[in-house]
Amino acid sequence: METTLVLLKPDAVRRNLIGQIIARIEAKGYVIEAIDMRSAERLTLEAHYEEHLGKPFYEPLIEFMSSGPVVALQVSGHRVIEGFRTLAGQTDPTVAAPGTIRGDFGRDWGRAVVENLVHGSDSSLSAERELYIWFGESGEPREA
Ligand code: RTP
Ligand code: MG
Repeated sequence: METTLVLLKPDAVRRNLIGQIIARIEAKGYVIEAIDMRSAERLTLEAHYEEHLGKPFYEPLIEFMSSGPVVALQVSGHRVIEGFRTLAGQTDPTVAAPGTIRGDFGRDWGRAVVENLVHGSDSSLSAERELYIWFGESGEPREA
């Protein structure tokens, strides 16, 4: 059993896509263990995106993630880390496959940073680290 961190980014919230994105996670069979809508603190975002510090899109990314509320979700299931990344699709929504969240709902808006609706942890190490940052715990799945 695994738990992953999913974030619905400010573009997803602004575009009223919270329900449709969560419906895909549930339809796939994964379990929502915790959900919290909030305005992310800069310190939280700096910790979350520390691997990108120094990259040209870092500051625009932090600004974008601060531009409105996000929805943080703790999601569990066997192989959910890989499975949610598959549901999300490629980082660049222009080339993300149709059928994926980014492929179906995302596009290039010509802004300083790619707006791609969702974040999903990319490894069990990242999941543990990110769940701690956002929820203060590394995840206690309720599914057997
Ligand atoms: P995420 O961490 O949000 O799940 O996305 P990811 O793994 O697919 O992509 P990652 O490389 O970790 O990048 C984190 C987020 O930064 C923005 N980004 N913009 N060239 C760019 O403008 C650029 N590259 C990355 C995206 O919002 C990406 O999801
Ligand atoms: Mg990433």
